[in-house]
Amino acid sequence: MAEISETHVYPVIWQDEHVLLVDQNRLPLDYTLVSISRFEDMVRAIKTLIVRGAPAVGIAAAYGLYLGAKEIPTRDRQAFIERLEAVAEQLKNTRPDKANLGWAVDFSLKKVCNTPGTVEYLIQTLLETAQTLQREDLQTCYAIGDYGLKALPEIPERLSVYTHCNHGALATSGYGTSLGIVRAAWHSERLERVYVGETRPRLQGSRLSAWECVQEGIPVTIVTDSMAAHCMKQGLVQAVLVGADRIAVNGDTLNKIGTYGLALLAKAHSIPFFVAAPLSTVDIWLKTAEAVSVSENPSADIYQIGETLVAPAGAEYYNPASDITPAALITAIVTEQGAIAPSELASLVKATG
Ligand code: MRU
Repeated sequence: MAEISETHVYPVIWQDEHVLLVDQNRLPLDYTLVSISRFEDMVRAIKTLIVRGAPAVGIAAAYGLYLGAKEIPTRDRQAFIERLEAVAEQLKNTRPDKANLGWAVDFSLKKVCNTPGTVEYLIQTLLETAQTLQREDLQTCYAIGDYGLKALPEIPERLSVYTHCNHGALATSGYGTSLGIVRAAWHSERLERVYVGETRPRLQGSRLSAWECVQEGIPVTIVTDSMAAHCMKQGLVQAVLVGADRIAVNGDTLNKIGTYGLALLAKAHSIPFFVAAPLSTVDIWLKTAEAVSVSENPSADIYQIGETLVAPAGAEYYNPASDITPAALITAIVTEQGAIAPSELASLVKATG
């Protein structure tokens, strides 16, 4: 088992009836905590990417459901559950691409519906459920780190990997999925360096993944997205590691825009391409991702970098938030139950219920 580092950041902290969120829009310049005690503020925090990354958003939403439940005035159980369902729906619409968001909210809702007792007791159950989900996600990340480490190519020297977006401690309860594998590899002395693609337009790679690596002393090199092919051609990396927002049962993977291109490049250079995600990212109702439509981001992302305009206002833009990587391009999906070929996902999901 890889040595587990406890030096990573926790993006969602529960403290004195408040949720403290690391403001991920301000990193790496400022490490700031935003204190949230009202439902509407949690909705805004998820929509504006103060908290982001599929598992972290799921955990934040579970706390959001608790905050929303506290604001429901009725003490009639049936009326309470009806209002709670509306609160849940609002949360699920904040970032609908993230499978873990819907999963965490539905899980919490189901738990409440199946729990006998007063409304006060149900509200307390929601808080305990959010805390349990958060604790379990951390264990899940550690397991993914371990299984991913075993799945990495065995080479005599240390290996270097390429990552895209942020799937680290900041994107989960802590530690990370793909960046958890990076952590595990680093602490097992199998990692030389991580190449982080900057991930335009929101720069989660250069702002967040690189920040996490620097915090932990993991050697990191930032490259612009357009440099990935060259890095592979030069033999700089021996594996590509990405996260996932939603995985279809056949293994097709929806993730940050640019993931699909990296998978094609990895295939062209015979470099293994790993998707790391908890099983809660698997959408059991989605057989394949062929017909999934991806949401678009606002224009400012493309027109400007920070506050600086970098394009003429007269130009049109196209700004999809995600893309879909077909299962055929994925070497393995690393879950808390092991690293498996995409073709094995359906039976794993069935077996784990
Ligand atoms: O828009 P973001 O920053 O939330 O996108 C994050 C990703 O695309 C991650 O790869 C994904 O959510 C998995 S995080 C473990």
